[in-house]
Amino acid sequence: MPDIEQQNPIISFKNVTLSFGNKQVLDGLTFDIYPKEIVTIAGPSGSGKSTILKIISGLLKPDSGEVTINAERFGMAFQYGALFNSMTVKENLSLPLEETTDLSHKEIKKRVQESLKIVELEHTIDMYPSELSGGMQKRISIARALALHPEILLYDEPSTGLDPPTAARLEEDMLKFRDKIGLTSIVVTHDVETIMHVSDRVLILDNGHIVWQGTNEEFRKDESSYPCSFRERKDIKECNK
Ligand SMILES: Nc1ncnc2c1ncn2[C@@H]1O[C@H](COP(=O)(O)OP(=O)(O)O)[C@@H](O)[C@H]1O
Ligand SMILES: [Mg+2]
Repeated sequence: MPDIEQQNPIISFKNVTLSFGNKQVLDGLTFDIYPKEIVTIAGPSGSGKSTILKIISGLLKPDSGEVTINAERFGMAFQYGALFNSMTVKENLSLPLEETTDLSHKEIKKRVQESLKIVELEHTIDMYPSELSGGMQKRISIARALALHPEILLYDEPSTGLDPPTAARLEEDMLKFRDKIGLTSIVVTHDVETIMHVSDRVLILDNGHIVWQGTNEEFRKDESSYPCSFRERKDIKECNK
């Protein structure tokens, strides 16, 4: 884990609020994310996890508070690969590069090969999404995000819908992106296995703000009610012995 004390945050939320109609989703949300760390944001369904990712990627604006982002390029790994079925893997990966960069044909080809290599799916380059398993499609969608050389990668419930070995494989990739290319990752999840496998730090979200945060080790050991309720899959009241 990087020595976070020494660095400026790459993402910083200060007192962020956001309501949909009269439903207050984020209420005084404050947290920092540091370069090259993997932070999981855990919280019950409907607690505002996806909303946070939408604010980071600029799709939503908060009602009040301050959001500072010291990065230019984001990648978003979608819950369902979101690949174009009529296009090959090569075409799926090339398209965003053609649309958003000035890279030459040759450079694009190189980026596509490089990012397929990172997820170890070079052999699928001429295949169509329908020829790939769900887990492979998800890894291709991550390769597509990586081809844009993002500084931050956002994952929304990455292990949902994957069998355990495939989920573990995807999580190994996340660790590799941190260690080999220094990627910062934010992983929204309520899967306790994912939390314990990938997190440098864990933030627990409830009632619109962070109610607990700590390192992976603290998450594993802390007897207080929030980490306990996640680890032991119990209602928060049952953990409040
Ligand atoms: N565009 C929207 N319009 C109205 N309500 C929304 C919208 N997006 C999310 N919500 C509501 O905000 C709350 C948080 O949503 P979300 O961030 O998707 O939660 P999570 O990802 O933690 O399950 C939910 O109650 C959801 O119904
Ligand atoms: Mg969500």
